Amino acid sequence: MSNSDRVVLALGGAGTVGSGIVKALLDKGFKVAVISRDSSRLERLQTFVSPNTKENLITVVGNVEADGGWLTPKQWVKEFHPPWALAHK
Ligand SMILES: NC(=O)c1ccc[n+]([C@@H]2O[C@H](COP(=O)([O-])OP(=O)(O)OC[C@H]3O[C@@H](n4cnc5c(N)ncnc54)[C@H](OP(=O)(O)O)[C@@H]3O)[C@@H](O)[C@H]2O)c1
Repeated sequence: MSNSDRVVLALGGAGTVGSGIVKALLDKGFKVAVISRDSSRLERLQTFVSPNTKENLITVVGNVEADGGWLTPKQWVKEFHPPWALAHK
């Protein structure tokens, strides 16, 4: 399976350390999904990653600690980005 067929759910991916990891994963060709409670952090992340990889980044405002807020990575991608889920049944 090539990197472009894989989806990485990067918890903490909007943070100082996480954003560098997200950028590196995107540069390696992975699809990356990031959840954060803070929309401004997600906006910063969108401008931080390499422009040609943006289409492989999905960002969602949310709180993984909220009651019922936790989904398995597979459920999460399916709910928030169905086209990716179709490719990763
Ligand atoms: N920065 C450094 O130089 C450095 C050096 C050594 C070690 N560290 C360690 O590396 C880790 C990350 O540091 P950082 O500077 O990148 O921190 P940061 O910028 O504050 O980022 C932390 C990220 O983790 C997420 N997060 C926090 N609590 C969470 C929870 N309960 N569930 C899900 N996501 C949660 C935050 O989500 P939200 O976006 O929703 O707030 C944020 O995206 C920390 O443990 C820190 O101690 C950092």
